[in-house]
Amino acid sequence: MLKDLVIANRSYRGFDENRRITREELVQMVDCARLTASSVNMQPFRYYLAWEKEEVDRIQPITKWAKNLPDLSLPHEGMCPTGFIVICQDTRVWESVARFQKDVGIAAQTILLEATEMGLGGCMIGNFSAAQVKETLGLAEYLAPLLIVAVGKPAEKVVLTQIGEGEPTAYYRDEDDVHYVPKRRLEDILLN
Ligand SMILES: Cc1cc2nc3c(=O)[nH]c(=O)nc-3n(C[C@H](O)[C@H](O)[C@H](O)COP(=O)(O)O)c2cc1C
Repeated sequence: MLKDLVIANRSYRGFDENRRITREELVQMVDCARLTASSVNMQPFRYYLAWEKEEVDRIQPITKWAKNLPDLSLPHEGMCPTGFIVICQDTRVWESVARFQKDVGIAAQTILLEATEMGLGGCMIGNFSAAQVKETLGLAEYLAPLLIVAVGKPAEKVVLTQIGEGEPTAYYRDEDDVHYVPKRRLEDILLN
């Protein structure tokens, strides 16, 4: 069921580093993303895949994780993702990166849903310097990194909770490193 997949598809920030992601697995995820809706069907995205350890290790330090938990350094040591998909916009197709901010979310969510169905998981990373990513990957000048999707075999527990009107939405962790994600109630988000 799609809803089960959506529930299982959490933002994971701890992975089994022994489970390496293959290029073929990343390609399978992008193959789903390429079939999704696209504004005026322009399909301006290009996908940079990283699966070799040396390259994954170069990308990890330029991604920033869990802004809400400044006292923690996530992922914990030895629990990093083992693959990355960097979603870039080919600015020769369309120059403004603002135009495709909605599309990039659709692509990233589809990548993660496919990853979840494959028994994997990940996290969208929007907190990075595009210039630093471009330089690290040696991307052509016309490619603009929009969003990074980290992928791996999840090795942590994430629990969804329900919150009422006015309660904080900030995610948090307990002493056992269980990650809690508060979600608003259905009745609180329906307008009519
Ligand atoms: C567009 C977007 C960008 C995000 N960027 C980051 C990020 O840079 N670092 C991070 O740790 N999590 C990032 N996240 C993950 C969110 O923090 C996460 O979706 C939220 O806490 C809810 O958790 P859930 O995805 O398990 O429902 C991002 C999510 C989205 C949708």
